[in-house]
Amino acid sequence: MALAAAGNPQWTSRFAFLMAAIGSAVGLGNLWGFPFRTGQNGGSAFVLVYLLCVLLVAYPILMSELMVGRHKGLSAIESTAQLAKDSGKSANWGIVGVVGVFGAFLLLTTYSVIAGQVMAFGVMSTTGGFSGGPGAGLYDGTLMPLLWHTIFMAMTIFVVAQGLHNGIERFVTILMPAFFVMLAGLCIYSLVNGASGQALSYLFEPRFDEVTPSVVLAAMGQAFFSLSLGCATMITYGTFLSQDENIASSGGLIAGSDTLVAVISGLMIFPIVFAFDLDPAQGFGLMFSAMPAVFTEMPGGAFIGATFFVLALVAALTSAISLLIVAAIAGQNYTGLGKAGSAIVFGGAVWLVGAATIFISGLGANIDFFANSIALPVGGLLVAVLVGWVAPSAAMRGELPHASDRLFSAWRFLVRYVAPVAITITLILGLDQRFGFGLNRALASLTG
Ligand code: TRP
Repeated sequence: MALAAAGNPQWTSRFAFLMAAIGSAVGLGNLWGFPFRTGQNGGSAFVLVYLLCVLLVAYPILMSELMVGRHKGLSAIESTAQLAKDSGKSANWGIVGVVGVFGAFLLLTTYSVIAGQVMAFGVMSTTGGFSGGPGAGLYDGTLMPLLWHTIFMAMTIFVVAQGLHNGIERFVTILMPAFFVMLAGLCIYSLVNGASGQALSYLFEPRFDEVTPSVVLAAMGQAFFSLSLGCATMITYGTFLSQDENIASSGGLIAGSDTLVAVISGLMIFPIVFAFDLDPAQGFGLMFSAMPAVFTEMPGGAFIGATFFVLALVAALTSAISLLIVAAIAGQNYTGLGKAGSAIVFGGAVWLVGAATIFISGLGANIDFFANSIALPVGGLLVAVLVGWVAPSAAMRGELPHASDRLFSAWRFLVRYVAPVAITITLILGLDQRFGFGLNRALASLTG
């Protein structure tokens, strides 16, 4: 049974929880990361591996994080420590929470800078700033990026400071449904006006021969990032869950919606990419400057372009608040600050480090590497080991009362064996890609 701490808030409804969790998962990772990595890794080969990573690794870990959070109902660090103590293991397992909180903090520093750039590009593309119109130069130099990063962090802090009910829930229950309407509209618009046949074959025609170790690495990293795993985010959202929430089914809804949004983003972007001969592997420029530029040549383009950026901003904000709340709640626990104070202090610290990445070249890339290639997989691995090997099995069974024995055993098998092995391989390949022990090259030559 959950030992909800006195005063620990609970989601007001299942809908609010789902919108918040889907809002966390759906972000720039879906709109930009997924189509970009798909383009870089040979289209459908990547999509296929991605789906397997979600099903066999990310979804079971997502369930695990929600289970750990709900079981103790304490902050991420205390929940993981207490769970280990329950089976007579060391409270040092709180390290799972520590890695997560630290990772969430770091991720948000660069996430906010990028989200700021998205906002600036949105204003520029709707005012004609890219072609010298009003708004030209809105992202020039270092002070402009600093200004946009500041605006984005201020909005994030504003929402989190008002707490779970008056801040986060109120915000996500209005904006996430609006997000889905905009996304569906834009996707239909692209399929009707773009090269939809080419896009569909690019995304879905199987090309198994193009599956290489680096495709698997990219897919696993993307799945972790996209489902907001390894960063104590879902542990924290789990702490607000009531005991009668079915974690297997809501986890399935979250993972399914997130994957659907990623695929729909591909269906929104690639028809335009092919119709206008853009380079599918171009990355940030593709999403946020080439695409908006071609919108202006299309029917109703100004309106479509503006909608596209509002969509991206909503996606980024709902993810950013989920990252900040992790640090804000842990901070509340350890410093005695109130919820608003903690959001402001920790949000301010995030802002400061983010600002430093604008001025110190290479810092942002190093933080990204550390957060994405080390903190996230290590956090996910630790969660898998904690729930699969350390926590009392009966306690975990108690968190999945609705599951059949078969489903529970399948989950347990995935978190005990499949996830740790898969994540460890990803971690090693990721380090190799950066520091070059030659592993990726050797594997690539083996697979021809
Ligand atoms: N999932 C978000 C995206 O796709 C980013 C994100 C939010 C995140 N919270 C997270 C990533 C926690 C890792 C961990 O953009």
